[in-house]
Amino acid sequence: MKHKIIKQKVVNEENCFKKEIFSRFLSIALAMFFVAPGIVIADDKEEGKILIIYYSRTGKSKIISETLQKMMNADLLEIKDKKDRSGTWGFISSAYDSFFDRESEIEPAHPDLSLYSSVVVVSPVWNWKISTPVITLIKNNSFKGKKFMMYTNANIDIKKYDNFGDDAPFVKRFLRDYLRDKRTLMRKIVAKTGSDVVGHFHISTEETTKAQLVQLTQNSAEYLKEKLVNK
Ligand SMILES: Cc1cc2nc3c(=O)[nH]c(=O)nc-3n(C[C@H](O)[C@H](O)[C@H](O)COP(=O)(O)O)c2cc1C
Repeated sequence: MKHKIIKQKVVNEENCFKKEIFSRFLSIALAMFFVAPGIVIADDKEEGKILIIYYSRTGKSKIISETLQKMMNADLLEIKDKKDRSGTWGFISSAYDSFFDRESEIEPAHPDLSLYSSVVVVSPVWNWKISTPVITLIKNNSFKGKKFMMYTNANIDIKKYDNFGDDAPFVKRFLRDYLRDKRTLMRKIVAKTGSDVVGHFHISTEETTKAQLVQLTQNSAEYLKEKLVNK
């Protein structure tokens, strides 16, 4: 009888041990199933991860964007316009689209922005507006909750006439106010994205070599750090 009880106790202990192993195994499996993907997601949307998105008709925005990518160790995405915008006819159709605030078919139309906490959008200026393909991108995608930094480039410095006071000749005052209004308009459009707009940097590209363009972009490093990283 005594022997039977001892045997029963051993069997019970054996069962307890097996149950313990099983429950530990189960909790590890459940943790791997439910918790691990959470960790991966958290890693994927890394705080501070930056995407640079650009459109470039003649290659200047591309140089700026590639330089920014190296400076910031960011990801880079080129927006292509399905319309052929090359050559003289491409210039005329671009001027027309921009003048009449038309949108364009772009590729990708809806880039996956979910992994990024910040975006830097680089665009050439057309008729003192953000270029048509970039306007299309901005209007048809959500940038909510992201830091948004705008880079524009044009032949002329957007602040060229900024230092002229109210005693300056009419033409210079007119150009100063005209470019100020255009700048404000661009920022208003960006503000409509619902993002946290942190800054706008403009580069003048007229008669610049590739090396000069790289240098002009690198000159924005301090501004970029202050607005995007430290903010
Ligand atoms: C349709 C069109 C309109 C433009 N309008 C302006 C303008 O208003 N002011 C300016 O300074 N440059 C203007 N430009 C020049 C471009 O903004 C400039 O060359 C820019 O650096 C080109 O960038 P990308 O090579 O990335 O296309 C215009 C160019 C195009 C094609």
